[in-house]
Amino acid sequence: MTAPIIRPRRLRTTPVMRAMLAETTLQPRQLVLPLFVAEGLREPRPISAMPGVVQHTLDTLSKAAVQAADAGLAGVMLFGLPETKDAVGSEALNPDGILNRAIATVRSEVGDDCLVMSDVCLDEFTDHGHCGVLTPSGLVDNDATVELYAEMAVQHAAAGAHLVAPSGMMDGQVGAIRQALDGAGAQDVAILAYAVKYASAFYGPFREAVASSLTGDRKSYQQDPANVRDALREVELDVAEGADIVMVKPALAYLDVIRAVREAVNVPVAAYNVSGEYAMVEAAAAQGWISREPAINETLTAIRRAGADIILSYWALEWVHRGARL
Ligand code: PBG
Repeated sequence: MTAPIIRPRRLRTTPVMRAMLAETTLQPRQLVLPLFVAEGLREPRPISAMPGVVQHTLDTLSKAAVQAADAGLAGVMLFGLPETKDAVGSEALNPDGILNRAIATVRSEVGDDCLVMSDVCLDEFTDHGHCGVLTPSGLVDNDATVELYAEMAVQHAAAGAHLVAPSGMMDGQVGAIRQALDGAGAQDVAILAYAVKYASAFYGPFREAVASSLTGDRKSYQQDPANVRDALREVELDVAEGADIVMVKPALAYLDVIRAVREAVNVPVAAYNVSGEYAMVEAAAAQGWISREPAINETLTAIRRAGADIILSYWALEWVHRGARL
C-alpha cells in the first residue's frame, strides 16, 4: 500500500486550524429567543417538558428580554397566554390583553437594543386550541381568521413590535397583514412569515408551554411532512404577499427544506429550532445519554449549515452566556 499524498487530516490537526477553516459560523445577532408570558402569574412557572424554560410574569419577561438585549441577541419572540379563552380568541384582540401588554412592556425596556417580535396566531387564545375561528361544521375558517390576524398585527405594531410573525398557516395571511399594517401607518413593521410550517410532532412540549387546549391535529392547515414542493409554493406566495423574512419550522427534521428555501428566494430565511428538538436533547442529556453542550452546538451548526440566516432557539441566551462560538 502506498502512503497517501493527499491527507485531509492535515487540516484538522489543531483547534486553530479547525477554527480557521470552519465553513459555518454563528453570531449572537443571528439568534432569537422565544419567550412565554402568562397572565395572572405571581412567579414564573416551569414548563416540565422544557427543563430550563418557564412561563414568565410580565416582570420576569422584561428581565429576560433585557438579558437577551445585553447578550446581543437579535431579538425575542413573544407568546402570550391569556387567563380566559373562548371560541373566537377574544383576548387576542383586547388592546389591554396579555400579549399586547407584554409587547409594550418589553419594547419600553429594550427600545431598539434588540428586536421585539410577536406571534400572530389564535391558538393560545381559543378554547378549542385551533389557530383560527371555526365554521359551524368545525373547520378552521380561513378568511374570517385572516381578518382577525390583520387586526391583531395592527395592535402588536401599535404596542411596539418591530416584527410580527404570523404562524397560523392561513392562506393570504401575509398579504392581509401587510395591507392592514400599511393602512395603520405601520409601514416599517416587518413581517417574519412562518411560510413553511409542518404539522409536526415536535411541537409537543410547546403545547404545554402555552397551555394549549387542542385535541386533534392541525393537518388541515399545517403542511404534510412528506412535501417539499409544497413548501416552495408557500414561500413563493408569502414573498409575493410581502413577507420580509420567511421561516421554516421545525428545523432539524427539515434541513433539506431549509436548504431548498434558501436557494429559492432572495429574502432572509429563518428556522425555528422547536420545543421538541430542545426537549429531546435536554432529556437525553439529563439521563447522561448524550453530551449536552456539544449536542446543542451541533444542532445550531446544522441549522446554519443548511442555510438558515436566523435561528429561533430556546438555547439562544445560554449559548451566548456560555461563550460558545461556531
Ligand atoms: C402557533 C405556534 C406553535 C409553535 C410556534 N407557534 C405551535 C403549533 O403550531 O402547534 C411551536 C413552537 C415550538 O414547538 O417550539 N402559535
